[in-house]
Amino acid sequence: MEQFGKIKLNEKQLKSLKTPCYIVNETKLEENLRLLKYVQDKTGCKILLAFKGFAMWSMAKLVRKYLPGTSASSVSEARLGRHEFGGMLHCYAPAYSQADIDEHVKLADHIVFNSPGQWNNFKEQLKKYPQIKCGLRINPEHSETDTAIYDPSGPNSRLGTTLKNFEANIQNLEGISGLHFHNLCELNSDALERTLAVVEEKFGFYFNKISWINFGGGHHITRPDYDIEKLVNIINNFKSKYKLDVYLEPGEAIALNTGVLVSTVLDVFNNGMDLAILDTSATAHMPDVLEMPYRPYIENAGEPEKLAHTFRLGGVTCLAGDVIGDYSFNEPVKIGDKLVFGDMAHYTMVKNTTFNGVRLPNIYKFNSQTKELTLIKEFGYNDYKSRLS
Ligand SMILES: Cc1ncc(COP(=O)(O)O)c(C=O)c1O
Repeated sequence: MEQFGKIKLNEKQLKSLKTPCYIVNETKLEENLRLLKYVQDKTGCKILLAFKGFAMWSMAKLVRKYLPGTSASSVSEARLGRHEFGGMLHCYAPAYSQADIDEHVKLADHIVFNSPGQWNNFKEQLKKYPQIKCGLRINPEHSETDTAIYDPSGPNSRLGTTLKNFEANIQNLEGISGLHFHNLCELNSDALERTLAVVEEKFGFYFNKISWINFGGGHHITRPDYDIEKLVNIINNFKSKYKLDVYLEPGEAIALNTGVLVSTVLDVFNNGMDLAILDTSATAHMPDVLEMPYRPYIENAGEPEKLAHTFRLGGVTCLAGDVIGDYSFNEPVKIGDKLVFGDMAHYTMVKNTTFNGVRLPNIYKFNSQTKELTLIKEFGYNDYKSRLS
């Protein structure tokens, strides 16, 4: 088995796997982190891990070797950041309740508000915590992605403050020391360049009133064709022009291509076409396959009809639409076969559910240098039960 993350298991390790399971390659994770460190070293920017993409806290020590902190979007993520990772903690959420803010003030270094109204609600309380830097999320109303559910700049978006709302509330922004925008999704540095030009054009007049800016996530920095030198130039030019501290908070880029999801075939039969049922699930274990939607890579499989035997791969929940997709193979798929899905470390463990009582995939880590495979977490009935009452 050799694919995304250079995970190569020997026969004994392969036999010992309790599927479904994620295997995350810490060696590949470290490679990604080194690249992010390179960007920080070349620019002086700070890169924070956005938990919404990857929150594997058993890797906290490794992550913190290279990144100064984390970015949270809920009290639970903030607690994970403060207590498991340490370092700097940025918080942003589309809205905070009073209870959320009461927790965040104990945890955060930066709190970003989504609207002037939210800032107004909490600014008096925040005055008691002068060490916390407060920011406002702006919406540049500039779209870079075609996938509507991942476009914070689409029409009638609830995410961030548009220029119109910003200007209408400008007299209430005293105490706001930074701006935040998040506009990208799996994009290269040219998309950042275009977005930043719009941000400067619309909100640049306010840059002399702030000391920091957060460029959000969606920067696919660790993808092989990502133009890192362009990113370095963009940040350096921006910093020399405005003298602002620059933060980035990618999630996916940290864990990109670092892990796989291994599943076992439980049944095969024909109903107008060959079908296989796996011990994993699109809806429960890899929800982006249905949400994004996208077609995951499977080791040794091709597009339908490309290889001799085409199968529709379905999940183990009762949802009719729990279908991963149609794939072709050199040999017919058999009960007991292991299928390996690529690039499954991000937006899976953080999103998966116990729908239908389906067990969550176990979590292993692998080290390419020592070839060691370690079972970090095994899930079972209690994980299902504890979410219900
Ligand atoms: C505010 C914010 N920051 C950071 C991220 C992380 O984005 P990504 O994992 O695509 O890098 C997201 C993702 O939705 C986000 O909404």
